[in-house]
Amino acid sequence: MKKNSLTILSIVLFLIGFTGLSAQTEVKIEDQDSLRINRNIYGHFAEHLGRSIYDGLYVGEDSDIPNTDGVRNDLIEALKNLQIPVLRWPGGCFADTYHWMDGIGPKEDRPTIVNQWWGGVTEDNSFGTHNFLNLCEELGAEPYLAANIGSGTVKEFADWIQYVNHDGTSPMADLRKENGREKPWGVKYWGVGNEMWGCGGNMTPEYYANLYRQYATFMTSWNNDKGLYRIASGANVDDYHWTEVLMRDVPHNLIEGVALHSYSFVEWGDKGDAVDFNEAQYFSTMQTALKMEELVTKHSAIMDKYDPKGNIELIVDEWGGWYDVQDGTNPGFLYQQNTMRDAMIAGVSLNIFNNHSKRVKMANLAQTVNVLQAVALTDGAKMLLTPTYHVMEMYKVHQDAKLLPVSFDSPQYSYEGESLPAVSVSASKDDKNVIHISAVNIDSEKENEVEFDLSGFDIDDFNAEILVSENLQDHNTFDSPEKIIPKQFKDFKFKRGNLKITLPPFSVVVLESK
Ligand code: AHR
Repeated sequence: MKKNSLTILSIVLFLIGFTGLSAQTEVKIEDQDSLRINRNIYGHFAEHLGRSIYDGLYVGEDSDIPNTDGVRNDLIEALKNLQIPVLRWPGGCFADTYHWMDGIGPKEDRPTIVNQWWGGVTEDNSFGTHNFLNLCEELGAEPYLAANIGSGTVKEFADWIQYVNHDGTSPMADLRKENGREKPWGVKYWGVGNEMWGCGGNMTPEYYANLYRQYATFMTSWNNDKGLYRIASGANVDDYHWTEVLMRDVPHNLIEGVALHSYSFVEWGDKGDAVDFNEAQYFSTMQTALKMEELVTKHSAIMDKYDPKGNIELIVDEWGGWYDVQDGTNPGFLYQQNTMRDAMIAGVSLNIFNNHSKRVKMANLAQTVNVLQAVALTDGAKMLLTPTYHVMEMYKVHQDAKLLPVSFDSPQYSYEGESLPAVSVSASKDDKNVIHISAVNIDSEKENEVEFDLSGFDIDDFNAEILVSENLQDHNTFDSPEKIIPKQFKDFKFKRGNLKITLPPFSVVVLESK
C-alpha cells in the first residue's frame, strides 16, 4: 500500500473513531426448525416486598382506584398486553417466611405477618393464595408458587398443593371449597424454596439436595392434569458447585428445573443511583448484565454433563438491574426508577435467554411493579410504564416462536481500556413464518451498522420499531409517562435478501418481516 493510501486509511479510521460510526457487522441467521423459544422466558416475579403487592398490584377491593378484586385495572391491562406467560409469587426471600394458610379464609380472621426481609413492615395477609391465583387466571398467566422450605414443613407444602390442585374430596380441597373456590386452579410450577444458600436457610448444597429430595417426595400432583414442575432453588450467580451438587445428588425423576439468580449492578456494595449514573457505572452494569451469557453457558454445561438429554431445565427466576433505592423511600422497599440503562439490560438478557433456549426454559424479571427493574411504577392512582416494559412488549413476538440461531463477531464497546460486545441479536420465526429480529446496541456513543444475510428466507420487506432516547439516564415520569416509548424505525435497507440496519447508540430495535 502506498503512503498516500495509508494516510487516507488512517484518516478514515480516525474519523470512524470520532464520528461515532463503526464498521459493519455481518450476522448469519440459520433457518432451523427444531427449537422453540419457551414463552416462559418472558416471565415475571412479584414478591411481598415494598410496594410490589400492597399499594402496587393490590390496592384493595374498597380502593377508589379502579380494580378487579382489589388488583388495579390499569396494571391488569398493561400486563395482559405483555402477554405475561408466568408469574412467580410470593417470593423471593419472603417465600421462606410465608405460611400460606395465613392468607386464606375471611380477611378479618387472618393473622398478620411481619415482613422480616423487606422493611420490617406488618402485612395483614389480605392478599393470599386465592387473590394470586385468580389474578393469574385473569392475566392468562401460569402461576409459579415458591414454597416455604426454610421455615415451613413438608406437610404445609404438601397441603398447599392439595389445596390448589385437588379436584376430589380431601381435607384441603374441602377447605378451598369452603373458602369459595369449587374447582382447583391446577398449579404446575412449584419452587422448592428460594436462595437456600442465603435467605432461605444458609444451607450447603449437599444439605439442601437432601432436603429437596425429602420435600419433592411428598409433592403429589393430585388431579392436576398438567403434572407438577418442581424447581430446585438454584445457584447464586457463578456458584457452579451448587448446580453440580443438585444435578449429581437429586434423582432426576424428582426434579424438572434448576434455578439461577443473577442481578446486574455497578458494585454490590455501592450500587449507585438508578438515574444519576455516569458512564463508568453504566459500563460496569452492562458487564454484569452480559455476564449472563457466561453464566447460562457454564451452568448449562454442568447440566449437560449429568443430563445429556436435556430433561432438566434452567430457570433464571430472578434477573434484572439493582441500584440504590430512590431517595426518601424505605431502604427495605427496593423502589428504583428505570432508565435506558434498564432497557439495555432487558434487551441483552432476553437475547441471551432466547439464544440459550435449548436449556433455558423460563426466566422471571425482578420484579413486576415498584420493585427493582419494574415494568410499571405507581403513585396513588397514577401508573407509568418503564422502558423495560416497552422492551418486553417489543420482544413478546418471540414467545413460542422457533429460534433462528445467529452468529457474528460483535463490534466492541470500549471504555477506559476495557471492552464489551456492543451488539446483541436474537431471531425467531413464528407459526405464520414471520421472522422477528431483535437487535441491541449498548454502545453509549457509537452507532453500529449490522448486515443480515436473509437470502434463504421468503421475505418481501420489514416493519420495525425502535426504543431509543437522547440520554442513557432518560426515563418516564408520572408527569411525562411517554417520554420513552417505541417508535417506528426506518433506518434500514432491505434488498435481495440483504438487510442493513444502523443501530443508534443505546437502542433496541425489533424488526418484523412482511
Ligand atoms: O428480588 C429481591 C430479592 O433478591 C429476592 O427476595 C431474593 O430472592 C433475591 O436475593
